[in-house]
Amino acid sequence: MISPATILVVEDDRVVARDIQQQLTRIGHTVVGVTAHGEASVQLAQEQSPEIVLMDIRLEGPIDGIAAAEQIRERCKIPVIFLTAYSDDETVRRATRAEPFGYLLKPFDESELRTAIDMALYKHSAERKLRESERLYATTLSSIGDAVISTDSQARVTFMNPTAEMLTAWPMKDAVGRPLAEVFRIINEETRKPVEDPAAKVLRLDVVVGLANHTALITRDGRELPIDDCGAPIIDDSGKTTGAVLVFRDMTQRRQADEALRKSQEELARAVRLTTMGELTVSIAHEVNQPLMAIMTNASACLQWLTIAPPDLTEATDAAKRIVRDSQRAGDFIKSIRALARKSSPENISLDINVTIQEALIFIRSELRRHAITIEHHLSSNLPHVVGDQVQLQQVVLNLMINSIEAMSAGKNQPRMLQLSSEMDGIGDVLISISDTGIGLDPTKIDQIFEPFFSTKPDGIGMGLSICRSIIEAHGGRLWASPNLPNGSTFRFTVPAVTDGTSGESSA
Ligand SMILES: Nc1ncnc2c1ncn2[C@@H]1O[C@H](COP(=O)(O)OP(=O)(O)OP(=O)(O)O)[C@@H](O)[C@H]1O
Ligand SMILES: [Mg+2]
Repeated sequence: MISPATILVVEDDRVVARDIQQQLTRIGHTVVGVTAHGEASVQLAQEQSPEIVLMDIRLEGPIDGIAAAEQIRERCKIPVIFLTAYSDDETVRRATRAEPFGYLLKPFDESELRTAIDMALYKHSAERKLRESERLYATTLSSIGDAVISTDSQARVTFMNPTAEMLTAWPMKDAVGRPLAEVFRIINEETRKPVEDPAAKVLRLDVVVGLANHTALITRDGRELPIDDCGAPIIDDSGKTTGAVLVFRDMTQRRQADEALRKSQEELARAVRLTTMGELTVSIAHEVNQPLMAIMTNASACLQWLTIAPPDLTEATDAAKRIVRDSQRAGDFIKSIRALARKSSPENISLDINVTIQEALIFIRSELRRHAITIEHHLSSNLPHVVGDQVQLQQVVLNLMINSIEAMSAGKNQPRMLQLSSEMDGIGDVLISISDTGIGLDPTKIDQIFEPFFSTKPDGIGMGLSICRSIIEAHGGRLWASPNLPNGSTFRFTVPAVTDGTSGESSA
């Protein structure tokens, strides 16, 4: 026996009723009421809430046992076991409609009664658990933010949660029974071509599948939503796939957030570039001043060649040519300063990283000289191009070189040497290394230095390396640091090479 139960007995034969009551008490159950009438049984069931009702089918009065059982089932969900001496087809058919939890044919003995009650209690508790778990799933599915659609084995919609109804603009009642492909219309955002119905794919392959990136859902009212989703098969106890479940979510907000993040990172990178340029003003002023001085000298010379008698036109022409060349140089330099300071969205062009490095070098040439640092570079002459943003990559190289200059001027290590190299790394990436003989890195802080606002310098912001890393990662590469022997440190970064790329310029 499962446990003692409270039982209502409905039996119009007094003798039988008393007999059943005694049997139940012997088994250990509690009889909470005995009645001979259908109406009274419904009322007693409501008042006493017994765990089981034993119900005679034939009852005197306006409603018989079957009708009473139906009312009890509807109003109180209490399991009913029928007791009857009749097992004719018509009675059984009517009784079955009342969904009884058992059927006892009179006369029955105590063990039959015991078994029928145990079975009914067990079945009732199993059904209750099932209902509870269904309610749990229904509540979960209707309260989660993800959209859920399930289908049968033919990929026809069987269920949609409220989020799925909202995103597709299909009410579940209209969608149920339709092919999923009709309700869940998806296209590739870039090619604009329809994407295979994921449920069909799940059912075909019997595995969990995810959608490719850039999938958009076309809603019933024609709107387009970027989505992210996956599908999984529903497998029954025998291992057969009986349908598919599709889970997806609206990526609109996520896209907007990503875009906002990208914009603010760009802004930040530019702000840091401007600070860097602030640090380089001495160097920049020197770079502009040099050609200006040369222009001045050549202009005076030119005037002299022209004012003597007879004027020396050949010398004057040469001086004028040098003026043109130096103006060009100053002009180019100013153009690159403006590019660094400019606010523009990143470009993706095929470029020669060696040229990028050399242009960055121009900015800090005099800074190197000022700190008595020698420079050595080994730029590989046949590098493939990389795809990226010229200004951003230049910013990375500049930041790394400035850090090196700062590390060397902070220490007493001699000689002060900055080494630059570019080469292929063996897995199709261009590898750039910047090595110095500075104060070196604390091995315990090697990861921290890339975090925003980590700085060991009195007036450092600590954004340089963090910006560099996000730029390099956005280019599909990596940036890392390692200590140098006997002193100093090396920073390396990679950028994927263009596979059909042209060779870079040679220089060394
Ligand atoms: N070449 C290097 N040698 C030794 N330590 C370095 C080197 N480059 C970076 N570091 C360490 O990493 C820290 C973070 O560098 P990062 O460039 O991010 O910031 P910062 O140079 O301190 O300030 P800023 O934002 O002005 O660049 C530095 O403060 C320094 O401790
Ligand atoms: Mg720095």
